[in-house]
Amino acid sequence: MSERIVINDVGPRDGLQNQPKILSVEERLAMIRSLAAAGVKHIEVGSFVSPKAVPAMSGTDQVVAGLPDDDVTYSALIPNMKGYELARAAGVKTVAMVIYGSEGMAQANVNMGMLRTEEITADILALAKQDGISVLATITTCFACPFDGPTDPAVVEDIAARFLAQGVDELIIADTIGAADPQQVRSLTASLVSSHGSDRLGCHFHDTRAMGVANVFAAVESGIRRFDSSIAGLGGCPFAPGATGNVASEDVVMMLQQMGFDTGIDINRLLAASDLAEEVTGSAPGGRSKPWLKPWLAKQAG
Ligand code: COA
Ligand code: ZN
Repeated sequence: MSERIVINDVGPRDGLQNQPKILSVEERLAMIRSLAAAGVKHIEVGSFVSPKAVPAMSGTDQVVAGLPDDDVTYSALIPNMKGYELARAAGVKTVAMVIYGSEGMAQANVNMGMLRTEEITADILALAKQDGISVLATITTCFACPFDGPTDPAVVEDIAARFLAQGVDELIIADTIGAADPQQVRSLTASLVSSHGSDRLGCHFHDTRAMGVANVFAAVESGIRRFDSSIAGLGGCPFAPGATGNVASEDVVMMLQQMGFDTGIDINRLLAASDLAEEVTGSAPGGRSKPWLKPWLAKQAG
């Protein structure tokens, strides 16, 4: 049996929040259904944030209402208690929260200090336990911040240890702007895995400087078995200057499958989901593998 690696596609959230074109609820749902049809078992479907801050994410309640009833984990990002209440009312079972590796990013993204976001996350975590809602926490800017420069790995390790102790269901180490190199990734993830095991840890990389898949590989070598990626390489945080798309799901899945890992994903259907994402957004971002992979797979199919 080959070893399993879980892919969480964040395209419908991280991917769309920065797009010039605002998609309809139906277009967002079509993207989500195409990912589920490819076998993606974790999908971040949107966010409950201020519609003034991120107009593309308004209507996430309608997206949630239209989700299929299947075995996929559908998460939604929330920045505060209001977001939690809206997500709970919409019927969300998994919320994604953001905590910060740097002060500058916290201020730019949510207009709060790092410590305030930790307090809010801890409060919501306690409430979610009572409500039977799972909580994913992402630590952003774990390697560098566009405002504050390099991040001290000790700061990230300290935040990670505290939130794992408080019982987050998953803790995700994010390179929000795509600034990390594989050696840094290997070092931080190896240290975290040796302290906490890998069951609740994941990584989130952006491909700003073409090191996305190299960073995934470095984390795999440290024992990480869960990754965020974005269909067609869509993405980029509107509040993180210079950051481009997430590492593309098709690039990550192709690499992992070629290396013998089991992602449970049908690559042909994933490429169809990538085509759909390009079609509805009207842009052709990140993913490098598709132009090669499509004719290659067609030839193999005879
Ligand atoms: N969902 C919807 N609306 C929200 C909200 C939420 N979770 N939280 C706050 N709001 C509304 C408030 O009701 C208020 O509306 P009003 O102007 O009509 O009265 C408005 O947003 C501003 O609220 P305030 O509490 O003053 O917050 P702020 O202006 O300091 O903004 C955040 C803080 C966190 C709400 C905002 O920065 C945000 O939503 N950021 C999300 C950023 C994001 O998604 N980044 C990408 C993902 S990492
Ligand atoms: Zn991101």
